[in-house]
Amino acid sequence: MRNIILNDGNKIPMVGFGTYKATDGTGYEVVPDAIKAGYRLLDTAKVYENEEDVGRAIKKSGIPREEFFITSKLDRNMLGYENAKSELEKSLKRLKTDYIDLYLLHWPRPDYGKSDFDDWKKLDIESWKALIEMQKEGKIKSIGVSNFLPHHLQNLLNHTDVVPAINQLELHPGYMQNCACEFCKTHGIALQAWSPIGRGRLNESMILESIADKYHVSIPHLCLVYLHQENIIVLPKSSNFERMKENMILDDIAISEEDMWKIRTMPQVGWGGEHPDCERIYL
Ligand SMILES: NC(=O)c1ccc[n+]([C@@H]2O[C@H](COP(=O)([O-])OP(=O)(O)OC[C@H]3O[C@@H](n4cnc5c(N)ncnc54)[C@H](OP(=O)(O)O)[C@@H]3O)[C@@H](O)[C@H]2O)c1
Repeated sequence: MRNIILNDGNKIPMVGFGTYKATDGTGYEVVPDAIKAGYRLLDTAKVYENEEDVGRAIKKSGIPREEFFITSKLDRNMLGYENAKSELEKSLKRLKTDYIDLYLLHWPRPDYGKSDFDDWKKLDIESWKALIEMQKEGKIKSIGVSNFLPHHLQNLLNHTDVVPAINQLELHPGYMQNCACEFCKTHGIALQAWSPIGRGRLNESMILESIADKYHVSIPHLCLVYLHQENIIVLPKSSNFERMKENMILDDIAISEEDMWKIRTMPQVGWGGEHPDCERIYL
């Protein structure tokens, strides 16, 4: 599995396992299966309510902690200096570890309708300063953000001297958020794709279907290979062992430049409906 080096010098695998809705807290063996399939990057968050499952699966695997790359995230409704510090401690406890490899501000603003929705600039800076301190203390190896658009990122750059290592965004064919991606590339921020296969919403795309047929892969697999060729870290979620394994095979297929352009320029389709600056719209 290929790794890349982040702007802070740390190494991260190009493929990770997305755990959102992958565990139900009843001991179902999805995360252990993902570890057996070869995943070492595990993406969790406080709001997924499965940090304990992830911690337990790692312990049970018998594989040394240092071989894993654990990502977790600060809940958007817990932004702020003190909250960031206490929330990280809780995550460490749930994950049964003394450090997290990557800790992200999950969203740049609290939920729409919360009284502090409009005060996001101050909240983000305070939270980011807390993450910087906890990184210096060794509790977090790399710090980053998720769902940050250029104006949210610029706010952090204006008031602190640590550039996020990663921005985790919804990215897949049909929703490539080019403006945010360009900003990240310019500032040396690595891109990580959530919902890299669009939770199955791209399966009806005729453009993707014709390209997938040409390379003898499924549409979900094509989406992952496309993102991989764009140098974007992918976090597919699957509860099926065979699909977990399939989703890690990204170097054996080479999409031609002409087909890459066809995917890059296809009409917008399949986005999840969550935008950081407005009310959540679940599609
Ligand atoms: N930062 C954020 O705000 C944010 C938001 C959402 C998600 N995330 C992260 O990103 C991860 C992935 O996103 P996601 O779970 O929304 O969606 P996703 O990975 O794009 O799609 C998951 C769906 O695709 C199916 N699937 C997986 N591999 C497949 C394959 N090879 N062929 C056919 N179907 C396949 C899965 O079904 P089966 O299980 O049946 O295989 C599941 O229904 C999450 O788990 C989470 O870690 C982050």
